[in-house]
Amino acid sequence: MKVYTIFKSPQLLTKANSIIQNFTSIEKYEQIVDILAVENNESTIFIKELSEDEAINKEYIADLISKSKKRVILVSPVPLSSEFQVHYIPREFKIVEFASKFSEFTQSYDETFYAIGQELLLANEKYPCDIYLKLGPKKYVRFANKEDTVDVLTLEKYLKSGVAHFYIMKNDFENYGDELFRQDLINLKNFDNKIEGLSKKHRMIQNIINDFGVSKFVLDQIEGSLEAFEDKVKTMSTKSLMEMFEKSKGSFIYDHSFLTVFFCGLICENLDWYDDTVREKLVMAAMFHDLAIDNPNLALSEDLKVNDLLLLDSKSSIEISNHTKKIAYLLQQNPDIPSDVVNICLNHHEGYEEGYPKGVPFTSLSQLERVFILAHALALGLYRIAFRLEKFDGIIDDIKRKYNCGNFAGILDNIASRLKEVNSTLQK
Ligand SMILES: [Fe+2]
Ligand SMILES: [Fe+2]
Repeated sequence: MKVYTIFKSPQLLTKANSIIQNFTSIEKYEQIVDILAVENNESTIFIKELSEDEAINKEYIADLISKSKKRVILVSPVPLSSEFQVHYIPREFKIVEFASKFSEFTQSYDETFYAIGQELLLANEKYPCDIYLKLGPKKYVRFANKEDTVDVLTLEKYLKSGVAHFYIMKNDFENYGDELFRQDLINLKNFDNKIEGLSKKHRMIQNIINDFGVSKFVLDQIEGSLEAFEDKVKTMSTKSLMEMFEKSKGSFIYDHSFLTVFFCGLICENLDWYDDTVREKLVMAAMFHDLAIDNPNLALSEDLKVNDLLLLDSKSSIEISNHTKKIAYLLQQNPDIPSDVVNICLNHHEGYEEGYPKGVPFTSLSQLERVFILAHALALGLYRIAFRLEKFDGIIDDIKRKYNCGNFAGILDNIASRLKEVNSTLQK
């Protein structure tokens, strides 16, 4: 599938881009100036932004539709005449709306190969399995072999030429998705320049968040609380906390904490007792909760059951088992840290029989602790499904099985169905 856009507004281009690149069936994606400038066949789709004058000119619209062989989506500031409805999308489109319209025009989905964003490849130093490029419908060519070193420059070159996705065999995805993709979002060692790597990572998280259709208002709130947190941490009396926080930046711990903040926000949107104070406490707890894990790679194992922790080497086992008590102790030394935050950090691996340190049941925890534990489980779950959001239902099922969620089960279902609305259209 080739997608050509004709946008005048950079904002619209960026917005459409964030959606289009999530479709697995797109091989080429390019901004052009005129429909007639490129070859047009059954696997081509055009997206054109209309001015108000163009939108009310029926002859002009009919001509566009004919030139595109009826494969054009028209982004218009005013509603189009009824005979053009199938092509019309309002200029102020919602993400779900656009994804849905776009999926009406793209119908191929291959069962044998799984598309993965190049960001997932960058998370590794070596390719975890054979990697393919898609040349055409059902036609794939091997791009790299299992265990080859990840080559950032080549990946970037392909991205620039319009290749947004690479492919792996479905079996490999099932086998390696859990183990090998469950790392830091991007392995910064693959980049000469750390800033470049970090900004790529930021874009990736942003894309995930977009997929949940989160409003700008909610995102601004979260950003605001994070900024306030950064200021606060600088003034705290325990200097080691600030050092630990700075060290976490760019690591799995920071990304995973940020995703936890985001899911706290999504859960709390459904709660009538959510206010600024609650949000600030949750942000604080999220950014602190794993700082006592010295080796960020160990954080990947933090949600093991208490007995499984004992199977790790003793140093790792002790580091993970103690990280909740250790951070709670450090936070307690600062009188201006609310006790709710200390308790969340202490209890974030509780809530089921095999949790640690004590195995406190979910129903014995405070509401805030429950919100945090669920948000934390959602954030970790994203790594487990290698960010393939069509598998998100599985995370929700696992969480509902693990914790005695009560009223929260409905909230989790709400989040899943909101995502599904976007995701089902993306995968058509
Ligand atoms: Fe933890
Ligand atoms: Fe954690």
